Amino acid sequence: MPVLALLGVGMFLQTLLLALTARGLATSLEVSITGYPEIVRAQLAIPEDLSILCGLAVGYEDPDFAANRLHVRRNPIEKNVIFLDGEGDKEPAQQGDRL
Ligand SMILES: Cc1cc2nc3c(=O)[nH]c(=O)nc-3n(C[C@H](O)[C@H](O)[C@H](O)COP(=O)(O)O)c2cc1C
Repeated sequence: MPVLALLGVGMFLQTLLLALTARGLATSLEVSITGYPEIVRAQLAIPEDLSILCGLAVGYEDPDFAANRLHVRRNPIEKNVIFLDGEGDKEPAQQGDRL
C-alpha cells in the first residue's frame, strides 16, 4: 500500500477512535490479526481482493475485567518526535525550546 494511503488510513483511524471514545465506546486496534489472514477471512467472509491492514474491536468497557485495569504508559513526546531547527541540529528539542 502506498505511503500516502497508509498515512490516510492512520489519520482516519485516529479520528474514528476519538469519535467512538467521545460517544462512550471503548476500542482496541489490533495489527496482529494480519498474521492470521486465512482465519480472519474465513470468520468474517473477507474476499481476497480486500487487504487486511488491522482489526478494530469496539464495545463497552467492563471496568471490572482485570485486563482492562492494565494501562499502558505513553513514551514522552521527545522519544517520538524530532524537532528540526533548520540549522542541521537533529537533537530532540527540550521542553521550553522555541520551535
Ligand atoms: C496501529 C496500532 C496497532 C496495534 N496493534 C495491536 C495488536 O496487534 N495487539 C495488541 O495487543 N495491541 C495493539 N495495539 C495497542 C492497542 O490497540 C492499545 O492501544 C493498547 O492496548 C493501549 O490501550 P489504550 O490505547 O486504550 O491505552 C495497537 C495499537 C496501534 C496504534
